Amino acid sequence: MDIQALNKIAVKMVEPGTGILAADESTGTIGKRLASIGAENNEDNRRDWREMLFRTQPAMNDYISGVILFDETIRQSAKDGTPFVKLIQDAGAIPGIKVDKGITPLAGRPGETITQGLDGLRERLAEYYELGARFAKWRAVIEISHPDQYVGQTPTRGGLKANNHALGRYAALCQEAGIVPIVEPEILMGGYHSVERCHEVTRKTLNSLFTELYEQGVALEGIVLKPNMVVAGKLCAEQPSRQEIAERTIQVLKDTVPSAVPGIAFLSGGQANEEATRNLDMMNKIGGFPWKLTYSYGRALQQSALFAWKGDAANYDAAQTAFNHRARMNGLASKGEWSAEIDDTVDA
Ligand code: 13P
Repeated sequence: MDIQALNKIAVKMVEPGTGILAADESTGTIGKRLASIGAENNEDNRRDWREMLFRTQPAMNDYISGVILFDETIRQSAKDGTPFVKLIQDAGAIPGIKVDKGITPLAGRPGETITQGLDGLRERLAEYYELGARFAKWRAVIEISHPDQYVGQTPTRGGLKANNHALGRYAALCQEAGIVPIVEPEILMGGYHSVERCHEVTRKTLNSLFTELYEQGVALEGIVLKPNMVVAGKLCAEQPSRQEIAERTIQVLKDTVPSAVPGIAFLSGGQANEEATRNLDMMNKIGGFPWKLTYSYGRALQQSALFAWKGDAANYDAAQTAFNHRARMNGLASKGEWSAEIDDTVDA
C-alpha cells in the first residue's frame, strides 16, 4: 500500500473551496429523481442529465474536486463520444465510483440493514482503477427507531458492528488497490428522533467505525469520512438551531475521528439546499478542528439544476446556471465564507 499516494488523493478531494459531487445514484434512485421532473428513466436521459453537470463551468473546474459515479456512468460517454471519465479529468476533478451493492435486511436484527458488495470486490476495484477511478464510496445505512419504541430499538450494537466491519473490509480492499475509500456510515434523518438521540447514535457509530478501521489495518491518512451532520429527525417537533447543529457535529467528530484523517465530506441526506450549505459554513466559521470539512452532496448540489432542466435540452443553460450557483455556494461554505446575502444574489 502506498500511503503517500493515497494521502495525496484524499487531500485533493477535500481541498478548501472544493468538494465532491455525488452523481452515483443507482438506476432506481436516479429514476426517482427523473420522475420528480416528469422525465423517463432511460439511458439517454441519464446520460444527458449527467453530461450537463460534468460540462458545467466554472463549477467543475473551481468547486468540484471529485465526482462519484455509478457503474453505468463510469463506462458511459457524452453524446459526442467523449468518455465521462475524460470530461471529469479534463476539468481537473477526480473520478470516483460507488462500489457497494445497496442494502438488504440484516438477518437476526429486525429493523436494521447491512450493505452488500464485498464478494468479488477486489476484482471489481482492479477494473475500476483501470477505468480511471481513484476513490470509491461505500454507504452503510443506520436507522434510528421511533422514540416511543421500547423493545427492539435500533441501531443495536450488533447492527453497528456488522455495518462497520463491512466498511472496514471495503476500505482495506480499496487501499490495497490504490483507491481512496470514502467511508460513509449514514444515519438517516427521517423520523421523529431528537437531536440528542442523533448525537448519541452518531457518536456510537463513529466510535465503533474507527475501532474497525484500526483492527483491519486501514491507513487513516488515506480515507475520507462521509458522515451525516448531527440533526433532529425531520418529523421531530423540536428542531435545533444552525449553531447547535454545527456545535454538536463538531463535538462528536472531535470525540471520535482521529486527526490523521485528512478530511470529512458530509452527505446532505435530504437537507434543503441552503440548509446543507449554511450548516457546513457554520462549522467552518467556528473552526478549531484538525481535518478539512467539506461537502459530498448529491441532492443539495443537484436539485435546483434538476428542476431548472426538466428533462428539456432548451433548459440546458438554466440548469448549468443553477448548478454553478450551488457549487459556488458550497465552495464558499467549505471555507466558512458563505452568507445568505451572497446566496440570494442570482449568478449572472
Ligand atoms: P445526498 O447528499 O443526496 O444525501 O447524497 C450523498 C450520497 O452520496 C449518499 O450516499
